[in-house]
Formats: sequence, C-alpha cells, structure tokens
Amino acid sequence: MIYRTHNCGELSRKDIGKEVTLSGWIQKIRNLGSLFFIDIRDYFGVTQLIISKKSVKKNFFLGKEFLIKVKGKVVKRLSKNNNIPTGEIEISVSHIDLLNSSLSLPFSIENETDGNEEIRMFYRYLDIRRNPIKNNLILRHNLSLETRNFLSKNGFLEIETPTLINYTSEGARSFVVPSRRHPNKFYALAQSPQLFKQLLMIGGIDKYFQIVKCFRDEDSRSDRQIEFTQIDCEMSFVEVHDVLIFFEHFIKHIFKEIKNISLDPFPSISYYDAIKMYGTDSPDIRFGMPFIELNDLIQKKNINFLKIQELVIGIKINKSHNTHEKINFFLKKIKNPNFFWIKYLYDRTFIHSNQNFLNKEIIKIFVKHFEAIPGDLLFFSYGKEKKAREELGKIRIKIADFLNLKNPNVFKPLWIKDLPLLEWENESKKYKSVHHPFTSPKEEDIDFLKNNPENIRSKSYDLIINGIEIGSGSIRIHNKNVQNLIFKHLGLSQKEIEYKYGFFIKAFEYGIPPHGGIAFGLDRLVNLLEGNKNIKDFIAFPKNNYGKDIMINTPSFLEKEKLKELHLR
Ligand code: AMO
Repeated sequence: MIYRTHNCGELSRKDIGKEVTLSGWIQKIRNLGSLFFIDIRDYFGVTQLIISKKSVKKNFFLGKEFLIKVKGKVVKRLSKNNNIPTGEIEISVSHIDLLNSSLSLPFSIENETDGNEEIRMFYRYLDIRRNPIKNNLILRHNLSLETRNFLSKNGFLEIETPTLINYTSEGARSFVVPSRRHPNKFYALAQSPQLFKQLLMIGGIDKYFQIVKCFRDEDSRSDRQIEFTQIDCEMSFVEVHDVLIFFEHFIKHIFKEIKNISLDPFPSISYYDAIKMYGTDSPDIRFGMPFIELNDLIQKKNINFLKIQELVIGIKINKSHNTHEKINFFLKKIKNPNFFWIKYLYDRTFIHSNQNFLNKEIIKIFVKHFEAIPGDLLFFSYGKEKKAREELGKIRIKIADFLNLKNPNVFKPLWIKDLPLLEWENESKKYKSVHHPFTSPKEEDIDFLKNNPENIRSKSYDLIINGIEIGSGSIRIHNKNVQNLIFKHLGLSQKEIEYKYGFFIKAFEYGIPPHGGIAFGLDRLVNLLEGNKNIKDFIAFPKNNYGKDIMINTPSFLEKEKLKELHLR
C-alpha cells in the first residue's frame, strides 16, 4: 500500500511503537512554535499528528482540507481525548507528502457547520465529508442491505423494471423524455414500477421486490423529492391480511436491526375512523388526543349556538403536558375560525377564547364531560363536518409541536385500511383514484359504482409511522371487467383504455393471479429512523425545493441543435 498502512480511525494503544503510513484531509492545525499538531481525517476517523517544524521544508504550507500522506511512529498521547477511538495515541511524523492542496473552504467541515443549505448543496461533495451526512449515507446503505437480505431470505426476487415508459395516470405528473428516433413521440419516466410488478405476477414470479428510483413532477417538501427511492414489493395469492402481517414483520425487523428498537404490534384502523378520530389520513398517534364527539351532549344540554352546527368535536390536553409557560401566548395566537378553547385553572376558575356563546354553565358542562381537572386544556372545533375535523386535526398537531409531544425516540406505526377507491376532482370534473387505478374495490361495495362511487372502499392500506406515510399499497384488480369498469369511471374512453392500457388488459386474459403489494419510501424511512428532519439529508445529491440541483445546475437549457435533433424545434 503506497498511501496507507492503516486508516485514520483504527490506531490505538496496542499499536504504540509501530511505523505507519496514513493519508487524509487536514481537519485542524495548531501551531505551537516548534511543533505542529494536526488532525487528519479520512472516511474512518481522525488521528492526531505531531510534526516538528524542523522536519518540514521551508515554505511548506499546509491548510485545512489539504490532503497529506504521512509516515511516522505511533506514540502515547500525553493528553488523552476520550471522545475519539484514536484518542490515546498520536503519530510522531518523520515524513510528510502533500497529495493535494485545497482552496479555502466555503463552510466549516464540522458536525455543526456554519454553511447554510444553499451553499452546502452547491458544494455537496464537501458537505458529504461532514460526519452527519456521511453517517446518514451509511445508515441508508445499511437499510438497503438489510432490506435486500430480509426480502431475499423470504423468497422475494429483486427484478429491475424499465424507467423509460409511457405516461400513466398514477396520480402525479410524469417527467417526459423526447425520443430522437421517433419524431414527436415521448417516453415518460416511471412514477413507480406499478404495472410492471403486476405483469411480473402474471409472469408467475411469486414475490418481487426492487429498490427503485421513481420520478414525479411535483413540488418538493421536507418529505418529498421529484426523484426518490421506493422499496417496491408485490406478492401473488395474497389478501390484505397476508400483506399486512408480512410487512409488519419486515418493518419490525428493520427497526430491530438498524436501531435496536422492538416495535409493539401495529394497530390498524379504517380510513373513515382515522378521519373521524384525528381529522387526517396520516395520524401521529404518539401523543393520543383523539377527537371526542359532542353533538349528543350539545343536543341534550340544549347549548344554543352549537346546537345548529353539523358537528362539534373537542380534544383534551392533559395538565401533565401543559407545563409550557408560553401557553397563554400560544392560545391567543390560534385564530382558526369555528374554534374555541377553555383552560381550567388551578384555582378552579377558567379562561377561554372569549366566544360570545361561552358562559360559566356551558364551560362546566364541557369540563364535566371531558372529566377535566385543573390544569387541563380543552380545544373545540365546530361547523361543517369535514372542515371541523380537518381544522381540529391541524390544531392537534400544532399543539403537539408547541408542547414538544412528538418524542423523536418513540415510534408508533399504524395501518390505515379501506381508503376510498375514488374521489371527485373539481378541477377536471372527473373521478380520480385515491391510490391508483389498479386498486381493487371491496367486493361488498362494488354496487356503489352505479350511483355513489365515492362510497366505495378499496382494498388499500397505508403504513403511517409518527404521522408520516412510510408505505402505501393495495390488493389489485385481477378481473378484466372490473379493471375496465374502473378505467371508465376515471373518465377514460374505450379507445383511450385500449391505447394506454391495452397490453395490460390483454395480460389479464392469460390467467392473472390474485395479487397485491406495497411500496415504502426508502428516503422517508431512513429519515424517520434518524428523527425525521428532511429527506434531503439522506440523499447524496438531492434536488432543492424547486426541483433544482444547484451544483450541476439542472434543469438547464438545451442547445438549438439538440432541440432540433429531438424534434422540439
Ligand atoms: P405511492 O405513490 O403511495 O404508491 O408511493 C409509495 C410510497 O413512496 C413514498 N413516496 C415518496 N417519497 C419521497 N418523495 C416523493 N415524491 C414520494 N412519493 C411517494 C411514500 C409512499 O408511501 N405503486 C404504488 C405502491 C403500490 O400500490 O404498491 C405507489 O407508488 O412513502
């Protein structure tokens, strides 16, 4: 080995006396007159060097992030550093070579850097030198590896499917790629391998998986990228129960192996109940606080103004949570319409959000109903059912954030089942699939297709962990007539069905097995495992929130000749 006999993270007391060669970047230099102390860093760690000025040539300049190769002897360190594995030794350097110099740095290569996101993205290769990003990439690797091993051991075959496909109606917009060889024709980048994994089941592959790049032309957020990775899976001869059981096992395995966390059994609730209890289809159940329905109480107690509302619901925040001194300020800031709050004080009086209709008697009715004790807080939402639930759902999350109830070390998975099959889209005046058009309706609901399509529940499921949709899947339609019927309800003409999905429907006629599956968002899962900050931190070269990679400056213009070649001019 010319460059190194050891790496910068492995030498310890047992190596004292050895002659070694190390290569690495300069993390820190301290000039002590006749001596330099230098920390050099590589992928594996940091080692302290001690260099006497006499041993370096005149005009020999070293700076941060210069890459050097040193030869020297491992010696005992006088002032130990217990924070690093190499903290008991240092290298007394006899020879130093400069491998490469470095410009002065745009931000510090430290765990806590002074670089803002934009500058870190522009110099992402420098950002990757920092431990937090490097460790995230290692974690991501471990997660992929564990996934591959687990699924392979359980009979899943990893198969690659095409990225250049046709535009399908999977929900988001697709990116399109013009074809040079076929004028005016376009490929679309796959939003997911959905159709191909179903074709693999028709092809007799019993269980499939793929760690696969997917592309969706949508706005980026902290949990969303235009280019992201799925752990995509499909199984033949399964029903909902089989899929949920197996993938609960998978997720538990991942948490155990990667984080040494044993998850409790995953509860499951219907989509309908999720909306009813939490006002969202992706509830965070770490901190309880389900909605309490108050319509019956209000009718019984004849509470005038509220009596005429379609829905009145409330939540209680226990006094144990409610210790934040700025709570009154927070309460005054919530300005949602059709909303009020009551705070039960320790002297057994109340303050509230000053709604005209609130008086002492009404407040006492609510306090009794909620079994509130001094210190508790009550929040209420009223009005049209959907809106009232949505609003209280948002407030529930806001208060949990404010009171720090989202413990990042607690993981609470939840299956949401029976999502609606279709939803009405006002913009296009058409029905749209809630999951995707290949999702099977529940047999008992199929009659709603004629008059009440919104009421059809589907055989679909989402895995929500701490309020984040980590995975989503369904049992698929495996009957040609049902698939055709659903396409028609989505507003596709027979001609369009034939043009877009003819090959797929044809495959149904060669003995399509019952099948179903799920896809997990790998970026989201790894981000969640590390406390749910931003999926960008777990992608080596992510796009920013405007879908740009500012380092390579994409997207970018194409030269006229290229446009011509692609028949775009
Ligand atoms: P779906 O579209 O729900 O289902 O995607 C599955 C999972 O992928 C993750 N995900 C994303 N992660 C980061 N950025 C994005 N833009 C993004 N979009 C989705 C989420 C989500 O739960 N073919 C179906 C799966 C199936 O039916 O088997 C599909 O793609 O974690």
